[in-house]
Amino acid sequence: MKVVSVSGYKGGVSKTVTAIHLATFFSELGQTLLIDGDPNGSAISWAEKGKLPFKVVDQKGSMKAIGGNDFIVCDSPARPDSRDVKELKNGSDLLILPTIPDPLSLLPMLQIAAVLAGSNYRALIAINPPKPNLDGESMQAELREADIPVFNTKIRRSIGIPKAVLAGVAVRDLTGRDRMAWLDYQSLGNEVLELLTDG
Ligand SMILES: Nc1ncnc2c1ncn2[C@@H]1O[C@H](COP(=O)(O)OP(=O)(O)OP(=O)(O)O)[C@@H](O)[C@H]1O
Ligand SMILES: [Mg+2]
Repeated sequence: MKVVSVSGYKGGVSKTVTAIHLATFFSELGQTLLIDGDPNGSAISWAEKGKLPFKVVDQKGSMKAIGGNDFIVCDSPARPDSRDVKELKNGSDLLILPTIPDPLSLLPMLQIAAVLAGSNYRALIAINPPKPNLDGESMQAELREADIPVFNTKIRRSIGIPKAVLAGVAVRDLTGRDRMAWLDYQSLGNEVLELLTDG
């Protein structure tokens, strides 16, 4: 069983969207559970229409649901304290820290990276604007310069995401342009799998 957690010091940076799509990717490979660690229950609400290809439980319900899964993805609330982050890192095989490509997001990333030094984590550039905007590339370069490990994959900003939320599905299950971001999640999923088998 592999446990991947999604966290970060900043709110609204695509943590829940990342967790839902990684769990969708994993569900094609094995039995997958998503634990919604956010008291707001965003992932639980996304799952309410019963159309996601994996089970979603809140933290209280997680004890009974954990057994028998190949993959567990944990979504977490915004602004955890450093103790929460340490607990999350100790309980996970890999920690994913989504960030938007915005200069103001660099500082919280540097702060959380200091807490996570030496553990298995990666930053993820999400909600990346389309070319000719190069903010994603700049952010990736700045993170690398600061010695923060960052996924090669960037997740594009896509109108498919809010549509998927409304429909209670993952973008994988949309059509045409709305589905394009699924290519990014597949690429991310493959990078994650590689990290999980290395470690
Ligand atoms: N790739 C994307 N393209 C377009 N919109 C996106 C993308 N990723 C996330 N969003 C939108 O950005 C908003 C924030 O996403 P999300 O809820 O996943 O962030 P979060 O980090 O979980 O927030 P919170 O800290 O409140 O839990 C949502 O409205 C979501 O639909
Ligand atoms: Mg969230």
